Order: sequence, then C-alpha cells, then structure tokens
Amino acid sequence: MKINDSLLSRSEKIIFALQEIYLKAGYLPYRMSKFEEYDLYANNKSFLVSDRVITFTDTDGALMALKPDVTLSIIKNREDDPEATQKLFYRENVYRVPDGSDSFREIVQTGLECIGKVGNDETTEVISLAAESLKAVSENYVLELSDLDITEALIAAANVSKSGESELWSAINGKNVSGIYAAAEKYGADKTAAAALAGLTSLEGKIEDVLPKAEKLLSGTPAKGAFDRFSATLERLAKAGCAGNVTVGFSVAADVNYYGGTVFKGFVPGVPTAVLSGGRYDRLMRSMGKRSCAIGFAVYTDALERSDPGGEESAGDGYISVALPKGRIGDRVYSLFAEAGYRCGAIETQSRKLIFENGEKKIRFFLVKPSDVAIYVERGAADIGVAGSDILDEYEPDVYKLLDLRTGACRMTVAAKRGFCDDTAKVLRVATKYPNTAKKYYRSKGRSIDVIKLNGSIELAPILDLSDVIVDIVETGTTLKENDLSVVEEISGISAILIANKASMKFGSARINEIADGLKEVTERKK
Ligand code: PRP
Repeated sequence: MKINDSLLSRSEKIIFALQEIYLKAGYLPYRMSKFEEYDLYANNKSFLVSDRVITFTDTDGALMALKPDVTLSIIKNREDDPEATQKLFYRENVYRVPDGSDSFREIVQTGLECIGKVGNDETTEVISLAAESLKAVSENYVLELSDLDITEALIAAANVSKSGESELWSAINGKNVSGIYAAAEKYGADKTAAAALAGLTSLEGKIEDVLPKAEKLLSGTPAKGAFDRFSATLERLAKAGCAGNVTVGFSVAADVNYYGGTVFKGFVPGVPTAVLSGGRYDRLMRSMGKRSCAIGFAVYTDALERSDPGGEESAGDGYISVALPKGRIGDRVYSLFAEAGYRCGAIETQSRKLIFENGEKKIRFFLVKPSDVAIYVERGAADIGVAGSDILDEYEPDVYKLLDLRTGACRMTVAAKRGFCDDTAKVLRVATKYPNTAKKYYRSKGRSIDVIKLNGSIELAPILDLSDVIVDIVETGTTLKENDLSVVEEISGISAILIANKASMKFGSARINEIADGLKEVTERKK
C-alpha cells in the first residue's frame, strides 16, 4: 500500500522519515501502552519537563497516569543487562504541560535510546543519528554539543554551598557572565574556577574555533581530564563524517542528577526552541536501580510543523529583530543602541507606530510593554530584547542574558507603613506584582506568607490594610515617600539586561554578538 503524501502534515512526514533512519541504523521499534503506574513519575518528578501528570484510578483501584514521558517507561520495563546493547526507537503520544504553557497538551514524541553496554562507538552512533534526524528536518540544522563533566568539575572547584552551585548553574544556562561573577562573589567561590566558568560559558561555535580556546582556558584546572575525553568524542564524530553542522557550546545545563558527560541540543530554522534534546543518562539508570549505561535523545515533533525545510534563502530576511521596552527605560535603552551605531530616526519622532527599521544596519525594533519583552524573545518573535532583571527573576524565561546594560537601575524591596514590626506568629500578607520573587525571597528566609497578586498601585495595599508589606520596585523612592511608606528590606538590585533567544543565537550569533559588543563598549564608556 502506498501512502498518499498529501494527506500527511509536515511533522507527520518528518516522523516517517525519522523512523526510516532509525530502522536502517538497526534500531528496533518499541511500542508501549499510553498508561503507566503513577508511582514511576512520583518517584522521578524532577526528571520530567513538568511535574504535572494526568492521573486516573484503574478498575482495580491502582493510581495510573497518562504518560508524560517515554524514557522512564523504557528504562523500567526493559531488561537490565550491562553487557548487551539494546537499540530502540519509539514514536509515542505523551501528555504534559509544555514549558511556558499552563495547560496539558498531547504531544507526539519520537526518540531513540541505546541502553546496556554503551561504549565510544555507540556514543558516536547516537550523536550521528541525532544529526541525521535534524538534517531530515532542515539542511541548515545546528547540533550543539556540550559536556556536563567539564562544567561540573569547575563548579566543584568553585567550592561553594548547594545554593551557590544552583545559582552558578542557572547563570551558565543563561550565558550570564556577570551572573557567574555575582554568584561567585556572593558565595565566596574560588576565583580561578569562577573565571574559567565565565570564559567557558561565553564560548560557542564551530568545533575548530571553540576547542583551542576551551583547551587554553581549562589547562591546569580540574576540568582538563573531562575536556580531553570530550575532545576525543568530537574527534570520533569528525571521523564518522558528522561534524559539519555540529557546534560546541558550554552553556547547556541539564539536570546533573540524571545526565552526565556528553549532552546535546538540536535547532532548526523557523523554530524558536530546541527541537531535539539528549545525552548520556547513566545517573538516571542508577537512580532507578539499574546497572546499565544509556544514551538517547527525543525529537519534539510537534514543534516541527513550523520548521523551515532549509536552503540559504530560508534563513530569514537577514534582519535582527529587537524587542525594546516602551516608556522611560525604553528611551534610555534606545539611546544606547543609537550610540552603538544602530540609530533608527523614525523611533525618535512621536508616533503610535510600534515597528521601526534601519535598512542599512538590517535591524528592526519593536516597542512592547516592558513586562512582555521576555515573552517576545523566548518565543522567538524577537531575536534579542532588553528586559529588567526584575522581570527575568519573576518569569525565569529560557533566554540568554548577554549583557548588563547598567541602566534603569532600581531596587526590589520590601516596604511597609512607617513603624511596621513583623509579627512572626502570624502569616505575613504580602501584596505584589511579583508573586514568584516574593515567594522565593520569603522561602529563603523560612517565613510563611500569603501572597496577594496586584497589577499596579501596590502602595495602596498596606495603607488600606489589604496587606502587611509590599514587595515592589523602588527607583527614586518618591512613591513610597508620598504615601508614607518606607523600605524595610532590600531584596536585590535591578538593571536592564540584553537578552537573546537561544535558537537565534545558534543561527545569528555573529550579528547578535556584534550588537552586544557595540552596546558593551558604550556602557563601559559610561561607567
Ligand atoms: C513602579 C513601582 C512603584 C514606582 C516606584 O510603578 O511599582 O510604584 O514605580 O518608582 P519611584 O521609586 O521612582 O517612585 P509604575 O510606575 O510602573 O506604576 P504601577 O503602580 O501602575 O505599576
């Protein structure tokens, strides 16, 4: 029977192409039920993209779940033989709340697992198959490889507390060099290790460009051994003819309780997030009581519907789009772009227009509400943008934080009526536009609170006894003063940060880095 191609959507065609690739490479199809015992997910919640799972009670009273993930079921159900190699692929529907969404979706996921005895050959094969999978989607794909052992060795050498480690990981994941230095200072990290981490995080690009720089940075550090192993993996990949679209970057942070060693992410033009993600997960095997090793990846096929099949002409119109915040901070930020050579005269005239272009510099500005900048960038509607660190801390968007523009400086504070005294016997009522920031702050102090989310004029809340305190930004202090309130505690400093979409950085890093360097020069001059 021949299938009529025109009946299939783009992502369905890709799924068929992927299955053919895996079959040809000797991987066996693995079918499974849509249901799994809920316990499996309850015990491995942090491995899941989201810890929300659809559950139901089976006829015998057992608590069951609609599968949010496939890998855990494969590990649980396959035989644990560290001497044999099992090669499997799957195409399954999973049910979960995707990152950045607040409702459940049915997602088709295709992936591949190599379990049991996993040596160098198997590692090379799986990474090559990841590259081939991406190539089936677009000729212009990018497969970014990283090695968690390198980052982990440096973080261990930094010698900081668990909270310090988690702040360092989060700064690495955001390519946030100033964040690494800030965390290093806050937690008293070893200076050499912190400097190596900062240098490493900024490195990204072709293997031949990045490796020599990484080697120089890591020589004499405890990460050198891991680096040598990673270099050998890359060499084997090159020998296998799979290096063309492979890049190396060290800001890939994965959960080190599950992953270790080589990890990778795949990107294709037209999709603002990674469409493939994988790596070596021996640690997940151990946490599930298995002796086997494992490496694998998943392709997020639902994202592929919007992917661009490739070819040079498909790489967009060559413009870099910038989401700028409207209002007072926006004017200051735009001046920095203008001083860095990206002037756009039309923006300076008063109008209700929201999009402005500079054809010569191939840059396009959008004006959006300050709190929306991160959404435009995270979802790829803009390649870069400028957002306040208050918004980034609150929403934790998955973006790169390239540069602190040292403007828009203000503070996140706790404020209350004059003479306020915290009665720790009572739950503290906190009014705020920043509920996550407030929760994180008081959780770190072990204080229980009742968060009251408001959208503006926060200062009214304690005056009308709606709350005991407010968590809000203070710039000049005028609003507090005029309403007879005062700062009781300071949470953090705030400034404007240049952020970038992660996929845009894979395809347009030269242009984006050029803009970031220009802005850096201007901000350094103003210091
Ligand atoms: C912000 C903030 C404070 C005020 C602080 O409000 O929520 O109310 O600015 O600035 P100041 O220290 O210079 O007085 P915003 O102007 O965004 O208005 P909103 O109350 O509608 O949120």
